[in-house]
Amino acid sequence: MASDLREFVDEVRRARPSDVLEVSQPVDPEHETAAILVKLEERQRSPILVFTSVRGCRFPLVSNVCGSLGRLALGLGCGIKDIGARYSAAAAGPIAPVVVDESPVHDVVLRGDDVDLNIFPALRYHADDAAEPYLTAAIVVARDPDDGVANLSYHRLMIASRTTTGIYIEPRRHLDGIFAKYVARGQDMPVAVFIGAHPAWSLGALYAGAPDVDEYGIIGGLLGRPLELTRCVGNPELLVPARAEFVLEARVSARERIREGPFGEFTGYGTGTTQSPVVVVEAITHRRDPWVQDIVSGHIEHLMLSVPALELRCLQAARRVAPGVVKVSLLAPLTCVISLRKQDDDEPWRVIDALCADIYAKQVIVVDDDVDPADLPRVLAALALQQQPDRAVRILSDLPGTPLDPSCDDPGGRTSKLGIDATRPLSRTRVVTRNRIPAEVLARVDLAALLKR
Ligand SMILES: Cc1cc2nc3c(=O)[nH]c(=O)nc-3n(C[C@H](O)[C@H](O)[C@H](O)COP(=O)(O)O)c2cc1C
Repeated sequence: MASDLREFVDEVRRARPSDVLEVSQPVDPEHETAAILVKLEERQRSPILVFTSVRGCRFPLVSNVCGSLGRLALGLGCGIKDIGARYSAAAAGPIAPVVVDESPVHDVVLRGDDVDLNIFPALRYHADDAAEPYLTAAIVVARDPDDGVANLSYHRLMIASRTTTGIYIEPRRHLDGIFAKYVARGQDMPVAVFIGAHPAWSLGALYAGAPDVDEYGIIGGLLGRPLELTRCVGNPELLVPARAEFVLEARVSARERIREGPFGEFTGYGTGTTQSPVVVVEAITHRRDPWVQDIVSGHIEHLMLSVPALELRCLQAARRVAPGVVKVSLLAPLTCVISLRKQDDDEPWRVIDALCADIYAKQVIVVDDDVDPADLPRVLAALALQQQPDRAVRILSDLPGTPLDPSCDDPGGRTSKLGIDATRPLSRTRVVTRNRIPAEVLARVDLAALLKR
C-alpha cells in the first residue's frame, strides 16, 4: 500500500494507467488548470492531472487525486461499495500515530526572509474569484488548548503576501471552536498546514465526529497501520505527516482580519467576501523536489472527498434517535436522504429533527428501507407515491446552516430547512399491494435457456 501522495500516484499509474494524465506543455495556473479539469469532466473523465510545467512555479502540480470513487477505494484498499463501511470501521477502531525521526518533509527548511508563499503556483479557478491566488488542498492542524487533542481540517487559504494568508473557517466547526478558545485568551492559534496527502489522510482529516477524537487515529484506522508523524521544526507540539510534500508552520492572528474572497465554493456558487483571520507563516518546510497538490473548488473531487465523513456523521446522528436507520446518502449539496425501517409513524420526524441540527443538512428526506436513498428516481417516486404532501412536508425555521448557502441572507448561516417524510404510514387503511410476479413463476423461468435460442 502506498505511504504518501507520490507513491499513491505511482500505484494508480500501475493499476489504471488511463487514470493519470500527465500534461507536460506549459499551463497557466490562472483558470487554465481548472479549465482542463472542467473540460475533462464534461466528457465524463476525471483522471489525476499531473502538470509538470506550470507558469511561475518550479514544482509540478498534482490535481484531482481523489476525483473518482475507484481511486478512493484504491487508496483504502477496498471495493467502491465498501468505502462507507471502511470509514465507519476506522472511526470505531482508530490506530494511534507514531512519531518518527526520518522525515522527508524536512528535507528543505525555509525560515525568516526565505519564507515566500509565492513559491506556490498562483492558482485561480473561477472567473469571479478574488484576484489573489488560493491554496485549496491545505490541511490545517491545530491543538485544542484545553486537552491538547489535534484537529485536522481543510481550509481554503488566500495568499495575501509573501508570509500571510486569509483563512476561511466555517462557524460551528471544530477549528472555529478551538480558535475561539485562543481568542478568548488573547493568544494567536499555532497551526501547521500540510499539503500533499495520500487519499486516506484526506478522508481522515475530514472526520466530523466528536471534537475529542484525534483525526490522525482515524487516518491510521483507514490505513490499517499507524501514520508516521514528525514534529514541526518551530513548534514541536504540532505534529504533521512525515511524508507530506509541504508544511507551513504558522499562527492564526487572534486580532488581525483581512478581506477574503470571493471564492466559488462546493455549492457551485461564490457568495461574496468575508472578513477572515490572518495566518502568519513563520516557516515553510518541504521535500526535495516537492509536488504541490491542488483541489479545484466546486468540482468532483471537492464534493466526493467530504461524503464518507458527512454520511457517517448523519448516520450516527440518525441512529441515535432511530435504531432502524439503514443507510444515508448525500444526494446533492445540503441534501440528506435516509432509509429507515420505522417502528412508528413519528420516527421519521425524530430523524428529521436530529439531522436538521447539522449545518450541512438543509433538506432531509426519509424513505422506507426498501428504497435505496442513493437512487434519486426511487426517492422521487417514494415522495410521489407514499405520502400526502400536506402531512409529509414540514418547514423548520431559524436553524444553524452554512453562510456558503447562496440562498442564505444571515451572515452566521441561520436558515430555514425542509423535512419530508416519504415513508408509507403504518396507520394507512387503504389496501395497497406492491406489484409482484409470483415467486414460483419467477423461479421456473430459465432466462439463460431462452436467450440461447
Ligand atoms: C477541499 C475542501 C475544502 C474545504 N474548505 C473549507 C474551508 O475553507 N473552510 C472550512 O471551514 N471548511 C472547509 N472544508 C470542510 C472542512 O474541512 C470539514 O468540515 C472539516 O474537516 C470538519 O471537521 P472539523 O469539524 O473537525 O473541523 C473543506 C473541505 C474540503 C474537502
